[in-house]
Amino acid sequence: MKTVHTVAELRAQVSEWRRAGQRIAFAPTMGNLHAGHLKLIAGGHKLADRVVSSVFVNPLQFGPTEDFGRYPRTLPDDQQRLDSVNCDLLFAPAVEEMYPNGRDHLCKVTLPHYSTILEGHFRPGHFDGVATVVNILFNQVQPDVALFGEKDYQQLLVIRRMVSDLHLPIEIVGVPTERESDGLAMSSRNQYLGPEERRAATEIYASLSEIGDAIRGGRRDFTEICGLGLQRLLAAGFQPQYLEVRNPRLDPPGARDDAFVVLVAAFLGKTRLIDNLVVKL
Ligand code: PAF
Repeated sequence: MKTVHTVAELRAQVSEWRRAGQRIAFAPTMGNLHAGHLKLIAGGHKLADRVVSSVFVNPLQFGPTEDFGRYPRTLPDDQQRLDSVNCDLLFAPAVEEMYPNGRDHLCKVTLPHYSTILEGHFRPGHFDGVATVVNILFNQVQPDVALFGEKDYQQLLVIRRMVSDLHLPIEIVGVPTERESDGLAMSSRNQYLGPEERRAATEIYASLSEIGDAIRGGRRDFTEICGLGLQRLLAAGFQPQYLEVRNPRLDPPGARDDAFVVLVAAFLGKTRLIDNLVVKL
């Protein structure tokens, strides 16, 4: 697998493939790759002739008190992992390559609604940072199809909405969450957890599953069932930020909805974990 660090090199390689009539899939990441990321590459191979991935820890999507500085940067390991699943090209730019005019007065993509609810409420500016960098990456790579993990449910919705609003000719594909054997959703942030926290972390998926079962069993008193889930998380040592049932568009669920998403964000010590469960009746 080839690794390039500049937009010029990236464009040269992608245009060569395009001239040969090949279809391009793209899986953007922030690196520190796990099995969930590798599934994006495998999914890309099913949909296109070439798969491009990127590793870029995007400063724009981290708040001032968040973990930008300590976010794990493991490029040599990432290269090996991508190579093992036959990724064709890795784009690993420096911050200056992505934001050559600096970040002051940067042109940004902003999504008024999605950037203020749920994750957006607790991480102001986060989704504008995500949408902006993904839009830049889309312009650099110009893929036919791009793959994103469903673990970041709200992020996937943000990207779908951006692509639709800006008329970007890119198909967006969601890839199901990859879980550890005890249910914990794979995440680069899991490695921040100490051994005891790691054991307690299983309560996140257990709580989501319990709520999912209650909904499948006919309960629609979402506030009550989420209240029980919150108690369960508190008892396990979490500091929850939200645990809510929404419809698939992330609006409050209505009487006629037959699909729901249970979404959670909670701190365990200093580590913030998110997860979700889609419940289709
Ligand atoms: O999901 C991620 O890893 C990031 O938010 C993304 C989409 C690569 C943008 O930086």
